[in-house]
Amino acid sequence: MSESNQAHRKDEHLSLGVNLWRQSQRLQVGATFDDIRWLPTTFPEMSVSDVDVSTNILGHDFKWPFYIEAMTGGSNLTGRINGELAQVAQKTDLAMAVGSQSIALKEPDAVSSFKIARQNHPDGFLIANLGADHPIENVRDAIDMIDANAIEMHVNVAQELVMSEGDRDFYWLDNLATVIAKSPVPVIIKEVGFGMSTRSVEIIKKLNPSAINIGGANGTNFAIIERRRNRQPDTFNLDQYGLSTVESLLSAQLTSNNTPIVATGGIQTANDIVTSIMLGATLTSSAGFMLETLMDKGQNALIQQINDWQHALPRLFTLLGSKNIKALQQAERLYSPSLYNFIQQNENATR
Ligand SMILES: Cc1cc2nc3c(=O)[nH]c(=O)nc-3n(C[C@H](O)[C@H](O)[C@H](O)COP(=O)(O)O)c2cc1C
Repeated sequence: MSESNQAHRKDEHLSLGVNLWRQSQRLQVGATFDDIRWLPTTFPEMSVSDVDVSTNILGHDFKWPFYIEAMTGGSNLTGRINGELAQVAQKTDLAMAVGSQSIALKEPDAVSSFKIARQNHPDGFLIANLGADHPIENVRDAIDMIDANAIEMHVNVAQELVMSEGDRDFYWLDNLATVIAKSPVPVIIKEVGFGMSTRSVEIIKKLNPSAINIGGANGTNFAIIERRRNRQPDTFNLDQYGLSTVESLLSAQLTSNNTPIVATGGIQTANDIVTSIMLGATLTSSAGFMLETLMDKGQNALIQQINDWQHALPRLFTLLGSKNIKALQQAERLYSPSLYNFIQQNENATR
């Protein structure tokens, strides 16, 4: 297919995103996973075989508490990658989200670059993806396109504002309320890497989505990616903006009701998954780390990486005396002084 500007942008996101991970040029924003220490459980009084790492969310039992997060589709190259990621997901029994399908709603040629995910993962749990401004008709089309089991509606104010061609109008709440009320599959409201405050999570909870993905900082940073795409000096700099995944999870815990929380942003080890669950996540996902592993080391290396996490998780749960996700969410931990200060400030603000 001959490719549009939007398809070209997808390819640029891909190469700049992979480069960020490849060069470990991910600036630290706020607290990291290292700001939480696990307290030793001297007497777990259980066996590794007692552990059940499966998790129930979005009306589905997920065998593993992590999935491959939304990235690709829309161009020839990113369509191939969707195909490869779906093969990996199929072989490792993981769920997978595709990248934003908005391009395929405008350009019929791009549809196949998303459908490939369903072809390669016929029985898998697939998650559609669109921006928060898309009306319910588009949501239905995106779901049908890949026979999706759920849809992520991404909220990305910072990314749009840093993009020279990005949106400048942000009236999303009424539309999201309609989408949530009418979508034929569960709806996740998802940030793309700038995190969510307690107040933001409260606002989203009132819309009653099936889940909220707090999409925190410290992983893929779209402020840096978009500035690099601009290729010109720009004083509009949001590189250090946002709340990290750790901070966003703790912020979500200060809210009043219990919409399930998904954690994304900088998750690159089984330990990061465990810490995210300890901080209240019911499910986690990784994007940049999976992509970089696939692009630099190939499909088998990514499968091996995922298998390593799958083998590690039951042992890590046992280490913390936790037979399942619910128990792990209660596991004892210590916070670093700076993170403890963050929690106290947040508690005071929400009192
Ligand atoms: C190359 C690339 C493309 C992405 N495209 C999308 C997208 O289309 N829709 C979306 O909701 N998130 C998109 N994301 C964001 C990821 O889904 C995720 O929220 C973010 O990268 C943080 O996770 P990470 O630190 O594990 O990469 C993209 C990320 C990358 C690296």
